[in-house]
Amino acid sequence: MPDAVSEEKLLTLIRCAMAAPSAKNMKPVEYIISTNRDELDTMGKQLPYAKMLIKSQQAIIVCGDSDVNPDLWMLDASASTENLLLAAESLELGAVWTALYPYKERMEVVSQLYKLPSNIIPFAVVPVGYPNGNEKPKDKYEVHKIHINKW
Ligand SMILES: Cc1cc2nc3c(=O)[nH]c(=O)nc-3n(C[C@H](O)[C@H](O)[C@H](O)COP(=O)(O)O)c2cc1C
Repeated sequence: MPDAVSEEKLLTLIRCAMAAPSAKNMKPVEYIISTNRDELDTMGKQLPYAKMLIKSQQAIIVCGDSDVNPDLWMLDASASTENLLLAAESLELGAVWTALYPYKERMEVVSQLYKLPSNIIPFAVVPVGYPNGNEKPKDKYEVHKIHINKW
């Protein structure tokens, strides 16, 4: 098992995630820090595209409070998740967005595990850890997708 990421670093990631833009500044996003082996394994086994949780010592679950902003909480959660990933990269941590929302069966796994109230919608699980490889940033620039003053 790789080294655990300190609580201080996890809170720094969440601080950055919370700095994301928020529609009408309603701030509907909530976060669960998971460092519990059984919980990480349960999610890793039950979520089809989050097997890396089984090898991770911690994850941050990004959730939206649908009572706070019923229409746009998922857009805020999206911006927040991306901020979290960028912050992880800048701290030389590895992190990956694994989708829960809008897949009901995946959301249900996390809702049941944490006994979430019905207004708290689990959006994404982000396993976090120290990377064991040395992956370089990708250049995804595609000039044909840029339309300057015309389509
Ligand atoms: C909305 C969304 C959902 C995603 N869900 C998953 C997922 O469930 N499991 C996973 O391993 N990666 C997931 N990813 C990560 C993508 O697979 C990844 O960004 C893509 O393959 C490109 O790789 P890169 O980000 O390293 O360039 C998701 C990304 C987004 C934006």
